[in-house]
Amino acid sequence: MAIALLSDIHGNMDAFEAVLADIDRLAPAAVFSLGDNIGYGAEPERVVRTLRERCIPSLLGNHEWAARNRDFLEWFNPAARRSLTWTFRMLSADALETIAAMPLFRQEGEGRLVHGFPPDSPTLYLFQMSAQDKLGALRSLPGRICFVGHTHLLDLIGSDGKDLTDHPLTEGTTPLDPSRRYFVNIGSVGQPRDGDPRAKYVIWDPGAHTIEVRCVPYDAPAAAAKIIAAGLPEAHARRLLGP
Ligand SMILES: [Fe+2]
Repeated sequence: MAIALLSDIHGNMDAFEAVLADIDRLAPAAVFSLGDNIGYGAEPERVVRTLRERCIPSLLGNHEWAARNRDFLEWFNPAARRSLTWTFRMLSADALETIAAMPLFRQEGEGRLVHGFPPDSPTLYLFQMSAQDKLGALRSLPGRICFVGHTHLLDLIGSDGKDLTDHPLTEGTTPLDPSRRYFVNIGSVGQPRDGDPRAKYVIWDPGAHTIEVRCVPYDAPAAAAKIIAAGLPEAHARRLLGP
C-alpha cells in the first residue's frame, strides 16, 4: 500500500499540478500534505481549494500557524512576513476555515507525520536539533518512522536506538531496514532549497519498507513570473529557478 507524502507546496500551483499529475499516474492508496501549503507563492487560494477538492488531508505548517495566529508573524523574516501578509488578504473565508481545522500531527500506521519535529512542532527544524533530541524523539515515536517537511530539503536519518546515521536521500527508491527507526525529511513541492528546481515528494510503501523520492519537472519560470507579477518578494521567485 503506497502513501504519497507532500510538503511545503507554498502557493505554487504550477508545481502542485505537476505533482498531482504524477500522483494520478502512480495511484497511491492515500495522499497527505505535511503543511506550509501557503506563503511565498502566488496562488495560495487555489492550492488550499485543490487540497480540499481532492480530499487531501493536511497538517498545519508554520505558515498556516501564522494564518491562525497573526501574532506569530513576528517569527518570520521580513520578506516572508511581507509574503504572508499578502497571502492572508488573498485567502477566502472558506480557505481560512480549512486552515483553522488542520491538525499539528497525524499517525498513519508506523508513520508519524508532522511539519517540523515530533511530537507536534510546526516550527522546529530537523537540522537545528541535537543528536540527543533526535535520538530521544525517535525512541518516543509510537511507530518506527517520522516524516517531516519544513526544511525544504531531502534527508534520511536512521537509528538503532543508540546512534544516528545520516543517509543520502536522492531520486528513486531507498530501502529501509525494518529493525531501525527513521526520520524522513521529504523535501518541498513548491519552494525547493536543494539547488534542484524540480518539485519533490515521496512515496512511502510501509509493506515493502521503501521510500521513493519523486522529482517532478514543471514550469518553474511561469511560477516565478506569477510571484513577480503579484508584487511579492523577488527572492522567492529566484529560488524557484535553482542556483
Ligand atoms: Fe516551508
